[in-house]
Amino acid sequence: MSPNDQKRTAAEAAIEYVQSGDIVGVGTGSTANYFIDALKEIKGKIDGTIASSEATADRLKSHGIPVMNLSEVGGLPIYVDGADEATHNLHLIKGGGGALTREKIVAHASEKFICIADQSKLVDRLGAFPLPVEVIPMAQSMIAREMVKLGGQPELRTGFTTDNGNIILDVYNLDIQNPVELERQINQLPGVVTVGLFAIRGADVLLLGTQDGVKKY
Ligand code: A5P
Repeated sequence: MSPNDQKRTAAEAAIEYVQSGDIVGVGTGSTANYFIDALKEIKGKIDGTIASSEATADRLKSHGIPVMNLSEVGGLPIYVDGADEATHNLHLIKGGGGALTREKIVAHASEKFICIADQSKLVDRLGAFPLPVEVIPMAQSMIAREMVKLGGQPELRTGFTTDNGNIILDVYNLDIQNPVELERQINQLPGVVTVGLFAIRGADVLLLGTQDGVKKY
């Protein structure tokens, strides 16, 4: 099974978690796109969606799926999204697509976060994938220096602006021994909008598409 087929089967398995009348949080990226396509088939069953990016909102709307404003809904029962890396503890790195801030907001607002991914995303330790950090532009150099102090090598994601008008620093070669502590440490730096570690609020379920079918963690 190709990586894309693994993403698609994981996305289709996540549909089983969607209940009638749910408002569904929807992530961003190629795996989330497969979920959006599968959601189209049951769109009459749900009350609406909360999008984690402009790109996701556009795709949902193009399928005739209603997109709502998070501030207008009471609670969010479920959020489905991909990841760049995931551990068996369901700690994640996200933000390869640059949507990490809205993804973290929707994840925090959700009762259940279902992560969907292909087999290549499962790792023993986070950090081979460069850690994305969304930064207010004026703080770029200062935060880059802070990332060097933490042992990383920050690189500006060139030609990219987030949906919130900010920049992304991709931080290479961090030694992420304690994802919860590192998330806290980077979060509290002035100028950091969001770090792409999802460990304080990780996933609740990981559906991993593999050669042998979808595995649940
Ligand atoms: C988007 O900002 C990311 O968090 C994505 O969820 C992540 O990059 C996974 O993307 P793919 O599903 O395209 O691998």
